[in-house]
Amino acid sequence: MLLSILLACKTTPEETIASLPVPEVWGATALEDQDSDPDVVEVHLTASETEILWSDDADDITEEVWAYNDVVPGPLIQAWLGQTIRVVFTNDLPDETTIHWHGLRIDDEMDGVPAIQDPIQPGETFTYEFTPPDSGTFWYHPHVRTHEQIERGLQGTLIVHEPDAPAVQERMFVLDDVSLNGDGSFESFEIGHMTSVHGRFGNTLLANGVNALNEPLSAELSADSSERWRIVNTANARTLYADVTNASWRVSAVDGTLLPEAYEPDWVQLPIGRRFDLEVIPDGSGEPVALRVLLPNTSGSFDEYPVFEGAVSADAGGAGWQDWPAEALPEAPSSFEQEVSLVFNNEADGNLAVWTINGDTWDEHEAIQVTGSTDSEILIVEKSGAEHPFHLHGQLFQVLERDGEPVDEPGLMDTVMVNPDEKLTIWTDFSNPGRWMTHCHILEHAEQGMMTEIVVSE
Ligand code: C2O
Ligand code: CU
Repeated sequence: MLLSILLACKTTPEETIASLPVPEVWGATALEDQDSDPDVVEVHLTASETEILWSDDADDITEEVWAYNDVVPGPLIQAWLGQTIRVVFTNDLPDETTIHWHGLRIDDEMDGVPAIQDPIQPGETFTYEFTPPDSGTFWYHPHVRTHEQIERGLQGTLIVHEPDAPAVQERMFVLDDVSLNGDGSFESFEIGHMTSVHGRFGNTLLANGVNALNEPLSAELSADSSERWRIVNTANARTLYADVTNASWRVSAVDGTLLPEAYEPDWVQLPIGRRFDLEVIPDGSGEPVALRVLLPNTSGSFDEYPVFEGAVSADAGGAGWQDWPAEALPEAPSSFEQEVSLVFNNEADGNLAVWTINGDTWDEHEAIQVTGSTDSEILIVEKSGAEHPFHLHGQLFQVLERDGEPVDEPGLMDTVMVNPDEKLTIWTDFSNPGRWMTHCHILEHAEQGMMTEIVVSE
């Protein structure tokens, strides 16, 4: 309820939206609007096979990459808040597919899940159309055999711009790791013991689709204002961490939401599927500003991998923080009218692990029925000793407690890390009616059963 009221005030008149130039986002090929209607952004997307050089040896090209419009990550789709997005999608792959719009609270028929939409067959075209109710950084990917289709390269970004946000330089960083053989080919997609337990960990780190460890991405940073960096982790199984050097930086938005109070952490954890918008100001030292991916090592600290280096001109560093048009976050009620409980566990199936929610795999699941527009507590109990980036389709939630202790993890989110053996409490008002998948975003866990469905009544 509260959410819908907030959203109503956020909408901007079409006249204003249509006259605004769409921001250029560094690091992303943006699709052009094919429709002259100012209220509609129409883009055309085709998924097909291609090949890409990720190895440092030109002979070891990766074949059988699957890509949207031949690029990995797929092209950026962007619109202003209030505009309708129409995506005319053609499947030229040798496999059926769908597109899911991760984080968007749209109608369930457009959510791209096979429980609702028959997968799009090779050669077929399907038109997705929706009007996002929230601004922010989102991404899109298939929802059929996702552990294979996302890994092969089917992943793209979508930005819904706030018309009243400061017009600063924006950069997009899509971070991924792929698992390749020495000759550049994909390691087998067949799920074995290790991948069923831990998911598929890559051996090649990609930033915006390039092997950034061979040579970091680079650009010149703007000298006169802060920048907005939007980051998403699209890996199958690996939690990433990141920081920024030679700059003041803060987290200004998480998933969809601009934060009323940005915070300045030492580093950010990037669970799979989540998005973090950082505001970055060079520190004035004249040293290049780097985005570093941090990977935990065995000695309890991080190994640091700079994936982007921004050259700074001499006079940079004088900018101040911008004022972001953030709305106050809905406040949690003191008691909830509805409770949903989700228990995460695993069991052995021969040599493989299968993953369950409330004791059932996806094949065995019974949908959970909830009443829409009702303040609800979701209690997640992790029992297997593994971590799970938990994603709920079609709704936004806030984190209340971990193991009974209140936490300070601000923002309306669609994905949250559930730590090993943890009890996590989140709340939502289930504002968006329909049938919604909820699952672990470690794609092999999802494939091995860790998905269920929540049906939200009107
Ligand atoms: Cu990005 Cu069902 O997920
Ligand atoms: Cu999981």
